[in-house]
Amino acid sequence: MHKTTLHLHTAFTVDRVDPRIFGGFLEHMGRAVNDGVYRPQSAHADDLGFRKDVQAALKRLDFTAMRYPGGNFVSGYHWLDGVGPRENRPKVRDLAWQSIETNEVGTNEFMQLSNRMGWTPMMAVNLGTGTPEEARNWLEYTNIEGGSKWADLRREHGFEKPWDIKLWCLGNEMDGHWQIGHVPAENYAISAQQTARMMRMCDPDIELVVCGSCTTGLPTYLEWDRKVLEHCRDEVDYLSLHRYVGNHNDDTVDYLAVGNSIDDQIEATDAVCHSVWKTKKTRKKVKLSFDEWNVWYRANKAEHVDGKGKFAPPLLEEVYNLEDALVAAGFLNSFIRHADSVKIANLAQIVNVIAPIFTRGDEMILQTIFYPIEMMSKRREGISLQVQVEGPSYTSASYGEVSFLDTSAILNGDRLSVFFVNRDLEKPMEVQVKIGDASVTELVDAEFLAGTDPKAHNTFDAPHRVYSCVHEDVTISNGVATISLPPMCVYAGTFKIER
Ligand code: AHR
Repeated sequence: MHKTTLHLHTAFTVDRVDPRIFGGFLEHMGRAVNDGVYRPQSAHADDLGFRKDVQAALKRLDFTAMRYPGGNFVSGYHWLDGVGPRENRPKVRDLAWQSIETNEVGTNEFMQLSNRMGWTPMMAVNLGTGTPEEARNWLEYTNIEGGSKWADLRREHGFEKPWDIKLWCLGNEMDGHWQIGHVPAENYAISAQQTARMMRMCDPDIELVVCGSCTTGLPTYLEWDRKVLEHCRDEVDYLSLHRYVGNHNDDTVDYLAVGNSIDDQIEATDAVCHSVWKTKKTRKKVKLSFDEWNVWYRANKAEHVDGKGKFAPPLLEEVYNLEDALVAAGFLNSFIRHADSVKIANLAQIVNVIAPIFTRGDEMILQTIFYPIEMMSKRREGISLQVQVEGPSYTSASYGEVSFLDTSAILNGDRLSVFFVNRDLEKPMEVQVKIGDASVTELVDAEFLAGTDPKAHNTFDAPHRVYSCVHEDVTISNGVATISLPPMCVYAGTFKIER
């Protein structure tokens, strides 16, 4: 049995947790939009053709910022193809995923769904084959009341009121050589700046995300970010970063330590923002938008990424297991610990394509990663506290030394939520939560997700192999909570505290 103490103090805060770190991402690819979210022939379809079963599952995850329509897809997407009468919308060959896009779902359908779900839309404009003007026209279409060409076009399409979309991404992964329209940082920075200026002339209240490095693995990592920021710093609010991880060496112990490198990536990217802010004497520091994150390493071979000219082909259909769920919780712990710099984060993606929700015809199952997101998302309100862990650690082959306990904590008035991952595959752990200036008085509620097989996963035949359960194995005495964790688990608990 490991014994670990989590030391907290209510005055040692990081920052308010921006609810947008519990964002999602819906891309026009594979069976994400078509079949996954939109399936008009389904018994579950609502009046707009969106699946009610999928909407109910998505509601449980309570996503905030929803990034749309891509991803690599957006770098060849023309928004005009997806508006107006459906019968006039063109079928287009999408080069990013070698698929056919019918454009049945476009801006207005997405916005109708977004409003139903209570999402904050986060639109990405095409800076691959698109122009600054095309992006600005789209913004006029979505945000301006009327009385000019594009705003009136929206009204003609039956949508009187503007959608008022305030969060926009200036392209996608433009540093990646795979990206349609990939260019060197200097060229991208110029087009991002032109686009940002034109968009702000159209609606000065928008917030903009500029493309930073999309992986730590490219030779331009951090250099790209510096160049782009030096050029665009006054025009943008957020710098994006992306990360997909995996158990490449089939070494669970090592894989569970990957959180160290997520922390490193956030801190290194934030350091670039800080340095540009100070050296260029700009008025504000650009914050981080971690707008694609997940586990993705099995379904990334040629057969998983090539749609072979088909409509809604099965692409990137990753099957998630218990160890992946622990890693997903680790991503969220890292975002919470870095609440001062990470303001937006989007799970990539939400349905079928590298997703927590998986459908087959009209059936649906919840994958393992669904549960930690649900457990943490419902406790996201409040201020992130600095966490000091005193307990055993191990040295991983790839990521250095890590504590067996991965953690974060959120204070919301007299409620404290703590999140744990016990990375030990065999040993249970007893965690004492001690608050320097307050006492834990009562358990409000807690859940956990655990198992003995790191490869356990849910299937249509056995959909409940891995799922979250109520956790009650806790004692509270002298203001200290002692929580017992099984090996290989994710825990989320909320307590009342008294100062
Ligand atoms: O989420 C899948 C793909 O991963 C996205 O389209 C792209 O931005 C990233 O490389």
